[in-house]
Amino acid sequence: MYSVALVLHNGLRWVALLLLVAAVVRAISGRGGRTWSNADDDLGKWLVIAIDLQFTIGLLLYVALSPITQAAFNDFGAAMANPQLRFFAVEHIFGMTVALALVHIGRVKIRKASGDHRRHTLAAVCYGLALLILLGSIPWPGMAAGRPLLRGF
Ligand code: HEM
Repeated sequence: MYSVALVLHNGLRWVALLLLVAAVVRAISGRGGRTWSNADDDLGKWLVIAIDLQFTIGLLLYVALSPITQAAFNDFGAAMANPQLRFFAVEHIFGMTVALALVHIGRVKIRKASGDHRRHTLAAVCYGLALLILLGSIPWPGMAAGRPLLRGF
């Protein structure tokens, strides 16, 4: 179960990242005067689905499956002095929660906004910030808590 969740959590990161990049590119190009279309809306919908799913698997790892977070919970004080344990116990979940909130807030605000230019601007700001935070909160290879770019079953 642990290794399945880890493979899914690893791979789904690319789906979430790709959707976020596409949403930001469309939002920025749309500010040039393009109408807010069903394609923009669908992209936002798939983005929310992907990031919610990724968040759910992350929570499962965090509270139940990951030996890393279990080790951190056993002695939280000591874990704060260990860069790898601190990253997964605090920094990763914090950054991803902020990114998730930005995507959800963005989608609600876009729905309520009137005017295509305003919608594209909201998407560029909210999804753009979420993308930066997501990129900064992923355990890229080479970091103290670095992980592989892909995992196989
Ligand atoms: C929503 C966007 C998220 C992305 C893009 C993301 C990405 C990643 C990546 C790439 C890894 C490395 C996987 C590997 O070792 O192959 C990872 C590990 C991990 N993530 Fe996330 N994550 C996200 C959200 C979360 C959340 C919200 C939590 C906790 C509630 C979480 C908890 C964890 C844990 C505990 C690990 C380490 C698991 C282990 O090695 O035992 N993730 N995450």
